[in-house]
Amino acid sequence: MHELEPVFNPRSIAVIGASRREGTIGQQVTKNLIDGKFPGPIYPINPGATEILGLKAYPSIGDVPEPVDAAVYCVPADKVLEVARQCAKAGVKGHIVITSGFAEVGNKREEDELVQIAKGSGGRVIGPNIVGTMSNPAKANASFAPVLPYVGQTALISQSGALIIALDTVTYARKFGVSSMISLGNMADVDFADCIEYYAQDMNTKCIALYIEGVKNGYKFMQAGRWAGKPIVALKAGVSAHGAAAAASHTGSLAGSVKVYQAACNQAHMIWATDLEDMLNKSQALAMQPVLKGDKVVIITNGGGIGVLGSDAAERHGIPLQAAPADVQAQFRKFMPDFGSPKNPVDITGGSGVAGYEGAIETALRCPWVDGIGVFYCETAVTKATDIANALITKLKETGITDKPVVACFVGGAGSVEAGKVLLEASIPYYDCPNKAMSALAALRQASRFQEVGCKVDFEPYTDVDKRKARSIIAAARAAGRKALTEPEAKELFACYGLPVTKSSLAKTEEEAVHFAQEIGFPVVLKIVSPDILHKSDAGGVRVNLKDAEAVCAGFRAIMENVRRYKADADLHGILVCEMAPLGSEVIIGSVNDATFGPTVMFGLGGVFVEVLKDVTFRVAPISIECALAMQQEIKGYPMLQGVRGEKRRDQEVLAGVLSRLSQLVSDLEDDIAETDANPILLYEEGKGCRVVDARVILKPR
Ligand code: ACO
Repeated sequence: MHELEPVFNPRSIAVIGASRREGTIGQQVTKNLIDGKFPGPIYPINPGATEILGLKAYPSIGDVPEPVDAAVYCVPADKVLEVARQCAKAGVKGHIVITSGFAEVGNKREEDELVQIAKGSGGRVIGPNIVGTMSNPAKANASFAPVLPYVGQTALISQSGALIIALDTVTYARKFGVSSMISLGNMADVDFADCIEYYAQDMNTKCIALYIEGVKNGYKFMQAGRWAGKPIVALKAGVSAHGAAAAASHTGSLAGSVKVYQAACNQAHMIWATDLEDMLNKSQALAMQPVLKGDKVVIITNGGGIGVLGSDAAERHGIPLQAAPADVQAQFRKFMPDFGSPKNPVDITGGSGVAGYEGAIETALRCPWVDGIGVFYCETAVTKATDIANALITKLKETGITDKPVVACFVGGAGSVEAGKVLLEASIPYYDCPNKAMSALAALRQASRFQEVGCKVDFEPYTDVDKRKARSIIAAARAAGRKALTEPEAKELFACYGLPVTKSSLAKTEEEAVHFAQEIGFPVVLKIVSPDILHKSDAGGVRVNLKDAEAVCAGFRAIMENVRRYKADADLHGILVCEMAPLGSEVIIGSVNDATFGPTVMFGLGGVFVEVLKDVTFRVAPISIECALAMQQEIKGYPMLQGVRGEKRRDQEVLAGVLSRLSQLVSDLEDDIAETDANPILLYEEGKGCRVVDARVILKPR
């Protein structure tokens, strides 16, 4: 038996604080259990009552003669710990704590104690500060939400209790089928990862939908998602760019939690929802339909307009329509007038009735070229929407095809809404606009891709790295009381992990600078090195393209004068003499140490692309070369890497290796590194690699 079975699927339930007063939470929970027809025993617990709502009441849980699986806490916060001790003693394993007044108001100590008491006796706590839990298979409405939700196969897990209450009756209005609805509240113990793990093995659940405000343990969350093997839809609330203002590096300022959450959810094989509506739409399709195993989607429509909108939406959601091959078109052609279109969308035209739809639907269902189908309908006076809905249902039954997803988009008034109900009752997801339908179909495609990848972890750590030296570089900087590495230190650190940094040496004098320049080879770049000067160019601390010893001497003197004028008391370590790398495409890679997910790497094109357009992408580290290649393909500026205006393709493979190595560096040293930037990296054409020209490493405060 799964450890959380007593919480999510209890056989017997006690309501602690089952009140004698109508309109109280304690009485409502008891009433909900009775009204929901909970099949097991319900034990109201109230020291002042002998009977509640016709059920025998007990003064305390210790007085109940049989073992009890779960207890729903409806007593005030100051009574919770005492009740927890009694429950633990009585062998209760599921502690469903509705009571507010814990960590959410700063009372973390008692919340921790509650968990300790429950866990000490092998129990688990859900909450506190929740609406409760609702399970349709168990017929257990252990909550003060109005009613058990509409029956179906989505487990809806919400950090917000209010959302659970709000959505409860919405499930009926939308025929949104739910297996369980769980309010997580403060997540003192049971969290998203636990719920994912439980519902992944629950036979009554096909899809898991999450409403997330914050994740406590990013690693556990991501692991649970990858291992679930079931579609998960994630809706993250509070997506403002928190923390960005405080970030010291370029990468840090671009991080913002939403991009990191989005990346983490994607890596954890979760389908991102943009809002509540999107979460419901996608979950509905994932719970009702098989996944979309290929990219060939056909839209069958009686209206050109909604067909074109569907086509636009398909492209927007990453499943662009493809023109059907000639033989497939010929088959569709049989079910439309001459002025119809058998391409894709398959426009059987406005005058088409049931027969036209039946023919086109059956053709698409039976055609091996077609992977998934959108049945679109705009309400006309010549056909009845419910007739079209029934035609679709009949054809699905007749053909017996169950491995090809079908979504319906009916645009119209009451007739279409009625048809929608018919469709949903037959487990065909129905939408009232083309965009929603195609977004749902795209979610089915994404779920299939995640299935293909499975839970395999594709990152193989590099062994040709010098972790010991990397640690010593950081230790030396810390010993000097610095919060960031200097550029030469940062470059040295990067080099420990095989990043191709430009050759450089730190000169204290003009003579040394000339000597190093001769060693490195002209032309060279000179850069000031000072922990007090972050923006070297602004301080006049950079000179490029110095072609001989004379230019190096002059450059050295000019930089020293400039920086002294810029900041007289700056601590100057010297001037870095650097190899001048040939011009190439400027890209940036970097990392942040995200509060939830830990080390996270970033990639983007440099210059205006990163500064103005913020065309960047993130992944939680470490990442494989394949993943780093996918990051490059994700940005809008990707065509630049493919080569534009006759330029050759850039060396994406080498860059991917560099990004993957950086991801290992920041993972290995996650206790020390807060942020990094390799900016710019000059990226050359295929086969010619790249050079890291500048490096920045900010240390974690100790
Ligand atoms: N064991 C059993 N019953 C007890 C005990 C005990 N040790 N001590 C007291 N009781 C009884 C009381 O006598 C009372 O019964 P009665 O009405 O018959 O006398 C009953 O338990 C309830 O106790 P009250 O003191 O009346 O508590 P009240 O009902 O006012 O509040 C509650 C309890 C609802 C748990 C409250 O403290 C609370 O936390 N409310 C917020 C809940 C919430 O909003 N959760 C988050 C939801 S998420 C969202 O945003 C919607």
